[in-house]
Amino acid sequence: METMSDRPCFDALAVVPPGLEEAAAAELSALGAEAVRPLRRAVACRCDAATYLRLHLQARLPFRVLRQLAHFPCHDRASLYRGVQTAADWELWLPPERSFKVEASGSLPGLSHSHYNALEVKNALVDWQQQHWGQRSSVDRQDPDLVLHLHLSAGRPGGSGAAAVLSLDGGGASLHRRGYRAAMGLAPLKENLAAGLIALTGWDGTVPLADPLCGSGSLLIEAACRALGRAPGLDATSGTPRRFALRRWPDHDPQLWQQEVAAARALARDALRDGRPLAPILGMEQDPDVLQQARDNAKAAGVVPWLQLEQGDARDFNPPPGPGLLVCNPPYGARLGERQELEGLYSDLGIMLKQRCGGWTLWLLSGNAELTGALRMKATRRLAVSNGGIDCRWLQYEIR
Ligand SMILES: C[S@@+](CC[C@H](N)C(=O)[O-])C[C@H]1O[C@@H](n2cnc3c(N)ncnc32)[C@H](O)[C@@H]1O
Repeated sequence: METMSDRPCFDALAVVPPGLEEAAAAELSALGAEAVRPLRRAVACRCDAATYLRLHLQARLPFRVLRQLAHFPCHDRASLYRGVQTAADWELWLPPERSFKVEASGSLPGLSHSHYNALEVKNALVDWQQQHWGQRSSVDRQDPDLVLHLHLSAGRPGGSGAAAVLSLDGGGASLHRRGYRAAMGLAPLKENLAAGLIALTGWDGTVPLADPLCGSGSLLIEAACRALGRAPGLDATSGTPRRFALRRWPDHDPQLWQQEVAAARALARDALRDGRPLAPILGMEQDPDVLQQARDNAKAAGVVPWLQLEQGDARDFNPPPGPGLLVCNPPYGARLGERQELEGLYSDLGIMLKQRCGGWTLWLLSGNAELTGALRMKATRRLAVSNGGIDCRWLQYEIR
């Protein structure tokens, strides 16, 4: 059997929501990535070309999967400029008729502004092009042919080992946008975070799943897509892949791409992998407009037949007998008045859960420990995650 070591491989880095590093590492390994190492907000791995394409079509947790072009020592602006010019075969990657943009993260002493660091990379590249061809590429912020990513890291304390990593972004745009969400409810979760939270629950589709405050439905839709093998990189209705930047790379292999697209399409099922039907997925939302958004999103994601969405107050939620899995992301409230009102909601939810959801497991995304205290329930697990920069906990409760 051919192994990855027989084929050309490269280092890749999946950028993931904080708290989902281990779950993302498991996902990448399952999709064939090797030497998988969870880092902070990222997972490093090695990929061959097929695996890299597969990650774009099938991985649910990353924001982006960067392909490393070069890694070079970097101490100051001059070494960044020189390093970029010799980092890759720019004759291949960036002829002047191709547009590009540069994104940057990380910092070093004297290189602390990502915007200026990205500008320095752009300048190094267009200067190189002018010297080489007498022409330069245009920068296109909306739809560039090549998206480059610079990451600066300090290395050891004191700055020795300071380095720059220059990578290509295969998605071009963030992978959390699956394309099914035209409609956004109040404070929706990003799709990849919703998928990751579901992965952390271990739900396998055999017991009912319910979200009594479902908003625009992200948790339920991502759960259904995962259970039914719907590849996040394919349009749900047409099966066509999204517009990934990697398809415009000079070393893109269209035949390999078609193989991976066909393999991703073949995963879509109308039942669980073993043929059993998917257990009921129930959603409730009090705001009729937001509920309509959930319905529209479910339609665009191709999972309408598996979702039962209902308008109503979560306090009136009455699930079928357990075991089952409840997930929810109740409002946290930013202002004080809201907080007091929300304490009442959390307290009522606690009563509803204890009275009617015995035998169910609850996972609740909390952005405010005081409010979750009002549930008057004791969490059995607490996982730290970040929701759009807000430090949150994904809390598990066994309801007796
Ligand atoms: C933070 S949002 C949930 C976002 C959702 N996870 C998503 O990704 O779209 C909270 C939702 O709870 C709904 N909500 C608030 N109080 C409710 C109640 N008592 N019963 C049902 N829904 C409620 C709000 O209308 C809002 O859509």
